[in-house]
Order: sequence, then structure tokens, then C-alpha cells
Amino acid sequence: MIKVGVIGLGAIGQRLIQGFENHPETVIAAVCDTLEERTKEVAAQLGGIPAFCDHKEMLEKVELDLVYVAVPPKFHHAVASDVLKKGIHILCEKPLANSLEEAKSLLNQAQAAGVVHGMNFPLNYSPAARTFEKMIKTDYVGKLRRVHLKMHFPEWPRPWQQNAWVASKEQGGYVLEVGIHYIQQIQKIFGEVKVKDVQLQFPKDPQACENAILATLELSDGTPVLIDGMSQIAGKEEIAFTAYGTEGTLSVLNWGQLEGGKIGEDIVPLDADNSLTDSLIDNLVKGLKGEEAAIIDFSAGYEAQVVLEELRKG
Ligand SMILES: NC(=O)c1ccc[n+]([C@@H]2O[C@H](COP(=O)([O-])OP(=O)(O)OC[C@H]3O[C@@H](n4cnc5c(N)ncnc54)[C@H](O)[C@@H]3O)[C@@H](O)[C@H]2O)c1
Repeated sequence: MIKVGVIGLGAIGQRLIQGFENHPETVIAAVCDTLEERTKEVAAQLGGIPAFCDHKEMLEKVELDLVYVAVPPKFHHAVASDVLKKGIHILCEKPLANSLEEAKSLLNQAQAAGVVHGMNFPLNYSPAARTFEKMIKTDYVGKLRRVHLKMHFPEWPRPWQQNAWVASKEQGGYVLEVGIHYIQQIQKIFGEVKVKDVQLQFPKDPQACENAILATLELSDGTPVLIDGMSQIAGKEEIAFTAYGTEGTLSVLNWGQLEGGKIGEDIVPLDADNSLTDSLIDNLVKGLKGEEAAIIDFSAGYEAQVVLEELRKG
């Protein structure tokens, strides 16, 4: 059994705990959160496993094979550095860190430690996004003309993630929280991307994150990539990642819905290839066993952070 320690027991930390608990080859061996009550509650739900408010104490006292870092972005660097100093395999939440310097430092430390270093970018394990990638590679859209990322939120932070940090310019905003997933997908599917122009808009509160972004990026062959983000608007949330080509159009809508059409036809829902079902945890387990695994590592996290920081700077 792979013994997993979790640092950060918020919305996402608790979600992944279920995944580790349900996997036949992993078990949660210890949990840590600075909120004592939350830590005790989660540890009790997991059958009274060791619980800590200080991650260093957890790393000192419990023998762990893998540590999952799910604290807010500005704590990733400090916490992940302590895990890597112990030479423990690591899964870190995205973005890798809260600045380019921190991301570079984590990448260097992970490579020097010689451990498995994975990031939680769930689109890489989603049948819709994987089918999108497969269809792009088999030329469904023909020659690519444009990539478009639309991120429209009636309300940011979203109702399920009402934390002060998600609303802050310091370590939140949807370019950081949501945009980073698609930056990583763009780099994986389409290759290198450079930022050409960024226009950000902010509300009056100087601490608050962006409420709009309009950015132009470019792939290495000159294909434009547009990012159109808005929050505090009417209507429903819509996140659309679309490739326009000479033969057709293909999108991943709202994380998990694939749709597309050939030129001259309507856009219709398309079936994702549900045989593409191995999970992040399946792949981490393979990686820890030394087998070939689809792990999005800290170097991919760093490359995504390069673009993210350009967008955040405006
Ligand atoms: N991969 C995804 O799809 C996805 C989705 C949502 C959030 N995230 C990422 O996950 C991370 C956490 O997001 P969240 O929404 O769960 O946040 P959250 O605020 O709900 O939870 C964070 C938890 O970390 C705890 N914490 C803060 N500092 C700590 C420290 N030093 N040691 C131990 N615990 C500490 C907080 O008390 C809180 O319980 C962020 O980096 C976020 O970007 C990823």
C-alpha cells in the first residue's frame, strides 16, 4: 500500500482524499491542516489516523510514500520545499507556485531530490479533453487557424469555492485558478505558446483579482490564441476551449463536454472516448512503482507558470 499524507484539507484536498481512499493501492496515512478542527474531523472520518496542524511535524513523525500538497498557492513553495527536503514523492496542486522564481525553485528541488513530482491537472485524465487532443492530432479540424479560451463567470469566486484567497489579486483570480489548466493543455497539445498582448481589468478594491482579461498569445507557427475572460456578468458560467481549423471546429465545454462540427455543419455534442479512463491516482501509483506513467510533472507546471505570470502581469 502506498501511504499518502495530505497537507491542506479544503475543497480540493478533501475531494482527492476520496480518490486515494477508493484506490486499491493507496491509503491516507496522515492529514494536516492549520485549522485544527478541520484536521481532527477529517482524521476521524478516516478512522482516527494521525492528524497535524504543522506539516513539518507530520513529515517528521509519519512515514509517508507520497505527499499531496493542497494548500492555497502562496503556501505551495514553502510546504512543497519541506516535502522535497525529506525526499518524499510529491503531488502538488496547480499552479505550481505563486511566482516564477518559486516555481523554478520547486522544479530544481524536485529534480535534485529524484522523486516522482506530479501536478493535479485533471483535464489530462478527462475522457472529453483526451478525446479533444486525439481528434486534434488526427486532424479533425484540419489546419489550425485559431485557439480560443472563453472563461465567463457570473460570479467569481464561484459559489462552491468561497475563500478570500481565490478572490485576491495576491494568489487568486480565474486566470490563475482556471486559466492555468488550459495553458497547460495548450502547451501539451499545441506546443510552445508566447504571450503577445494582455489587457486586464480590475474592480475598485486594490486587493481584488481581475474581473476581465483579453489576451492574445501565439503558437510557434504564428497561430493566434485568444483568451477572453469575464466575471460579474449576467448568464451562466461558460468555459469553452475551442480549436478552429480549415476543416472544422472542436471544443471542450465546461470541463467535460465535447462538441464540434465540420465546416458548413452545425456544432453538435460529440461522444468522448470513454476507454480513456485511467486516473491521476492510477498514474501516480504506476510512477511510484517505476512504471511508465502519464504524470504532468513540475517541468510542465513550470512551463505553464511562465505563461501564467506573463498574463498576471498584464
Ligand atoms: N486541480 C484542480 O482542479 C483544483 C481545483 C480547486 C483548487 N485547486 C488548487 O488547490 C489548492 C487548494 O484549493 P482549495 O480550493 O482546496 O482551497 P481551500 O481554501 O478550500 O483549502 C485550503 C486548505 O489549506 C489549509 N492551509 C492553508 N495553509 C496551510 C498550511 N501551511 N499547512 C496546512 N494547511 C494549510 C487551509 O486551512 C484550508 O483548509 C489551491 O492551490 C488551488 O489552486 C485545484
